[in-house]
Amino acid sequence: MLRSVLSAMAAPNSTVKYGIVGVGMMGREHLINLHHLRTEGVVVAAIADPYVPSQQLALELAQSFDWQLKVFSGHQELLDSGLCDVVVVSTPNMTHYEILMDIINYPKPHHVLVEKPLCTTVAHCKEVLNAARKRQDMLVQVGLEYRYMPPVTKLIEIVKGGNLGPVKMVAIREHRFPFLVKVNNWNRFNANSGGTLVEKCCHFFDLMRLFAGANPVRVMASGAIDVNHKDEIYDGKVPDIIDNAYVIVEFDNGSRGMLDLCMFAEGSKNEQEISVVGEIGKGEAFVPESIVRFGSRVAGRDGVQTSKAEDKRIKYDGLHHGSSYLEHLNFLSAIRAEGQQAPAVGLQDGLISVAIGVAAQLSIEKGRFVMIEEVMDEHKCD
Ligand SMILES: NC(=O)c1ccc[n+]([C@@H]2O[C@H](COP(=O)([O-])OP(=O)(O)OC[C@H]3O[C@@H](n4cnc5c(N)ncnc54)[C@H](O)[C@@H]3O)[C@@H](O)[C@H]2O)c1
Repeated sequence: MLRSVLSAMAAPNSTVKYGIVGVGMMGREHLINLHHLRTEGVVVAAIADPYVPSQQLALELAQSFDWQLKVFSGHQELLDSGLCDVVVVSTPNMTHYEILMDIINYPKPHHVLVEKPLCTTVAHCKEVLNAARKRQDMLVQVGLEYRYMPPVTKLIEIVKGGNLGPVKMVAIREHRFPFLVKVNNWNRFNANSGGTLVEKCCHFFDLMRLFAGANPVRVMASGAIDVNHKDEIYDGKVPDIIDNAYVIVEFDNGSRGMLDLCMFAEGSKNEQEISVVGEIGKGEAFVPESIVRFGSRVAGRDGVQTSKAEDKRIKYDGLHHGSSYLEHLNFLSAIRAEGQQAPAVGLQDGLISVAIGVAAQLSIEKGRFVMIEEVMDEHKCD
């Protein structure tokens, strides 16, 4: 069944028609990436966004690509148009749940690439997962695209190749600029974004889990809003999103992860520094320098190898070092594989990365370790 429906939607040589719901900064980034995939038989047929300035900017881009796309003000009209095989959801985080449920429950199947975080709460992620299980005729990929940044991919290969031995520690440092200004300032409040450790850091919790090869057990975090956004006011309210945190995650195979987040650290050479240490070796990745280091305990400091990571398939670097391009390439290949290939980053990955973020936010609030089962089974939350 899955195979025949999927093959009807995207036979190997047919054009795959995309719709983009939400054409703000990230939606337009998807539009540009898909344009760079046009030789792979990709076209954007429609966009949906209620905000006219976002529509206009997306239309200007589409016109410069010679793409005649339809413009809608909401996702329901886009679905009803029947124009799209694939829908990219790049709307504010708090809207993902409703939009995803409408797409998944829509009679005509649409494959979905949803931006991270999957949803802002664990309960909503679980509902989406349960609904999607009933739709064997659709593929859903979650936009945890840091996996595709070339130095990160190379480090994943080093780790999965067994070069470090069993992984014991994963440390991820993100030191960067503050959150950007968004349409209607949705990202200034936890209620909209899920909180900084969900909104931004689901990427890093996903990577930790991938490197550790395990699932999280408990989380301890310390964080606050100390520097950014304190002089901003929206509808009488000051933003409540934290701008720095340390988060410790313990995994069920005994390994542990640590996130060091600072969002007032423009004076950094790299935005992300990742270190993975196993029983026999250590690997590191640096973004955007795109450098990977790898050494063993036996060879010591003099034996550390440094290399530049690149992926020649990338036709557009964009805002995220080519990872959005590779994410699309990968999802397209799953679509064209007609049900023989699952999306590389599935709904379970989306759920667990959100659950770690929710646990970390709760840990800051409560000042204690939070068990993952507490947030997965919300009845256990006090
Ligand atoms: N992969 C990444 O690293 C990355 C980077 C940035 C943003 N994102 C994610 O992308 C999503 C969008 O973020 P952004 O930076 O583009 O925000 P944005 O504010 O720039 O754009 C959001 C757009 O969605 C539109 N919108 C709001 N509600 C809508 C609805 N119900 N239907 C259709 N359109 C709607 C808004 O009008 C706006 O044009 C978020 O989930 C964010 O977390 C991911």
